[in-house]
Amino acid sequence: MRTALDNPFSPGSDTIPEVWAGRTEQLSDWRDIVRPRRLAGLPERGRTILGEPGLGKSSLVRRITRDAARAGDWVTPQLRIPAGADPLKLVAEAVLELAAAAGLPSSREKRIGDAIARVQAVAVSGISLTLRGADGREPYAALTKLLIEVGAAAIAEGRVVALIHIDEVQNITDEKALSQLLIALGDALSHEVEVEVPGGARVGRSLPIAVYLTGLPDFEDMAGARKGATFARRFKTTTLSALDDEDLVEALQDFVIDGWPVSDGSEGAGRVRMDPEAAASIVDLCRGEPFLFQLVGEQAWYADTTATITAEHVRQGWRGAQREATAHVERILERLPARERQLLQTMADLPTGERTATRIAEAMGFAKVTEVGPTAQRLDTVRGIIDRGKPYTFRHRAVEAYLTSAWPRF
Ligand SMILES: Nc1ncnc2c1ncn2[C@@H]1O[C@H](COP(=O)(O)OP(=O)(O)OP(=O)(O)O)[C@@H](O)[C@H]1O
Ligand SMILES: [Mg+2]
Repeated sequence: MRTALDNPFSPGSDTIPEVWAGRTEQLSDWRDIVRPRRLAGLPERGRTILGEPGLGKSSLVRRITRDAARAGDWVTPQLRIPAGADPLKLVAEAVLELAAAAGLPSSREKRIGDAIARVQAVAVSGISLTLRGADGREPYAALTKLLIEVGAAAIAEGRVVALIHIDEVQNITDEKALSQLLIALGDALSHEVEVEVPGGARVGRSLPIAVYLTGLPDFEDMAGARKGATFARRFKTTTLSALDDEDLVEALQDFVIDGWPVSDGSEGAGRVRMDPEAAASIVDLCRGEPFLFQLVGEQAWYADTTATITAEHVRQGWRGAQREATAHVERILERLPARERQLLQTMADLPTGERTATRIAEAMGFAKVTEVGPTAQRLDTVRGIIDRGKPYTFRHRAVEAYLTSAWPRF
């Protein structure tokens, strides 16, 4: 009954999982705010979605992009920036594809032909074009120009948005390239064109272009702090945290109530069900981590071939997933600067009610409470791992479980 081919759980990265949980705020932000406002020509900032590894940043924007493409929008594929790569080349290629979707290459207008040629040069040479100063124009200017043409074509087409998704933005370590990229995208987002409205008056409107940047929270330091106000005015940053248990329960509800439809070999269609205790157990074990949710779901599916997933199957599945769960949390902790890791460990060692700045400062051997300030602030606002309430609490529930209990062991 349960086969590998029918398994709907997908712990691999960069997928749009079939068993989807939550993130309704971000999905409706696109559907109800970003898309309609950009379509209507109203200004709306680009979106930056950051978060610790495995929280579902790429999946979220892939899903937004898929929905957009289904609605007829022109979308780029998820543009992953490899470490050390020249982002301008990749983005130039993607913008050329958008231009193709917009039908621009067949235009006879010289202006458009020139814009395409310039971006083709950027796709070949990237940031090094700046140094050569080939025709005295910077790569960002070429990109902006072509994006504006794409935007104009989208207006002409009506009810179409051009959506750009750049992933792994923390890998853009070359400051010049980062700055060129952010300026190109920001300029296109804030560009206004004049259009004629009924009655003949001419008014300014923004272009139907939307930009999503996704990556690790470290990006905030690179773009936020140094590029400062300009970046913040043009991009709105959201830091993802763990999924809510209610959302995970709801995601499994299809299994519990109706069963998950599977093809049943020669007998035709069947359904795989899940005992409510099994669903509750999955939710409990994964601690709101999307990756672990998929992993334990997958393993529970494989634990047996019967038509019902039981709590025992989940237990067996988790046993097979424990090592990966440990590795997942260790990866998150290892990436942190020593100070931040130390603060988390100190917090974990204190009883829940005593996790105050004062007690943490004492335990870390600081003379003044204020010395924990910057570290705690980063863990809260930049990373979303803790919440600096009174007392401090963990927002990253898998990190908390790992540091304070035997989890992921039973
Ligand atoms: N909303 C969701 N509901 C259920 N599962 C999800 C959800 N979002 C992501 N996942 C699952 O979580 C895993 C990690 O997702 P994804 O690769 O998008 O994370 P990420 O934040 O981009 O990670 P990284 O920082 O490593 O790039 C994937 O297996 C994906 O299927
Ligand atoms: Mg990702």
